[in-house]
Amino acid sequence: MKKKKIIVGICGSVAAFKAIQLISDLYKMDYELEVVMSESASRFVTPLSIQSIIKKKVYINVFDDDPDKITHIDIVKNADLFIIVPATANTIAKITYGLSDNMLTASFLAATCTKMIAPAMNVHMYENQVTQKNIQKCKDLGIMFIEPTSGLLACGDTGKGKLANQEDILSYIEYALSPKPLKGKNVLITAGPTIEEIDPVRYITNHSSGKMGYALAKAAFNLGATTTLISGPTTLKVPLGVQFIAVKSSKEMFEQCKKLYTYQDYIVKAAAVGDYSPIHYSNEKIKKKDSTLNIELKKNEDILAYLGKHKTNQKICGFAMETENLIENATLKLKSKNCDMLVANSLKEKGAGFQGDTNVVTLLFKDYSKKLELMDKNKLAYIILEELMKCGG
Ligand code: CTP
Repeated sequence: MKKKKIIVGICGSVAAFKAIQLISDLYKMDYELEVVMSESASRFVTPLSIQSIIKKKVYINVFDDDPDKITHIDIVKNADLFIIVPATANTIAKITYGLSDNMLTASFLAATCTKMIAPAMNVHMYENQVTQKNIQKCKDLGIMFIEPTSGLLACGDTGKGKLANQEDILSYIEYALSPKPLKGKNVLITAGPTIEEIDPVRYITNHSSGKMGYALAKAAFNLGATTTLISGPTTLKVPLGVQFIAVKSSKEMFEQCKKLYTYQDYIVKAAAVGDYSPIHYSNEKIKKKDSTLNIELKKNEDILAYLGKHKTNQKICGFAMETENLIENATLKLKSKNCDMLVANSLKEKGAGFQGDTNVVTLLFKDYSKKLELMDKNKLAYIILEELMKCGG
């Protein structure tokens, strides 16, 4: 498969040094890269630093052209994305009006790919009406905009103007480069553990980190879906563009699923839902007394089974976490919960399970199954969604 090609343009801002880390990450992610800098950017960071990372020339001067090509036209050919990071007020103003007075602005004007800017500047420059109007004009021109964050700026002022953080910029890039087969579709993902409270201090939960569910939500959004993530408590950051509903107990998760499932085209139930919860919640802390303590539990609603029973056109994917008889148990769940697809994994397999970044799964369908190799949960998320899209034609 052809590598995606990204052009990175760097402007003269104190934040220019952050572009180096971004370029290094993109390089390791195996994108084809071209880097252009404004003259002033080259005062903040040296082209040599970047050339050493990408192993090719960094372009600054339009008149430095190789004799056999017109560089500012040539380098943007077949590009998939042009991102200016950091983008200064000056360069934003220039691209707004189609100026092309240096290598960066000339190549940006010549590019026909998706374009994106990530500004960084002083808060007053950012908030100035002129800059705001120029930013609006860029958005109207279809240039994607990565909002700067607030904080202490290099000039000593505090306010909005800090370059967005690296992780967010990478998320925007991933979104911009993904195909959109789920455009116009609604996808609901559940993730994380649930917690069932015993008293104000204690609760019953499980080891789910939510990583698989969050990776699915991120992938669904990148593929163009209107994505809702219902999640039990986790430490994870809500993925870019995802509508987020925080819940605690399995009852709360059930209520939210019931409210939303009719609007969905696809539902993926990656959450590790608690099967039982205490019959009585104690309003006061339960004091230590006898040598044993019995907490009576009642069975919770099986959310997936409910959705499987009441579904109309929704395609539903369940999960099965097993410690023995993986395929037999998972096949039973697929059938009894009326799923279109089920992702089965064994806690006993190396690289599978709750907390890690990888998983080893078998995908079960109504009449066949597919064992997948060990892989990163982010990659697996795309495969699960692709397979679910294929279910039922
Ligand atoms: N699930 C659910 N509601 C529950 C329990 C499970 O929606 N009350 C869903 C999970 O989100 C998962 C699937 O059912 O998609 C299977 O969950 P799992 O814990 O593997 O199995 P259980 O059905 O709970 O059965 P058991 O614990 O006996 O293996």
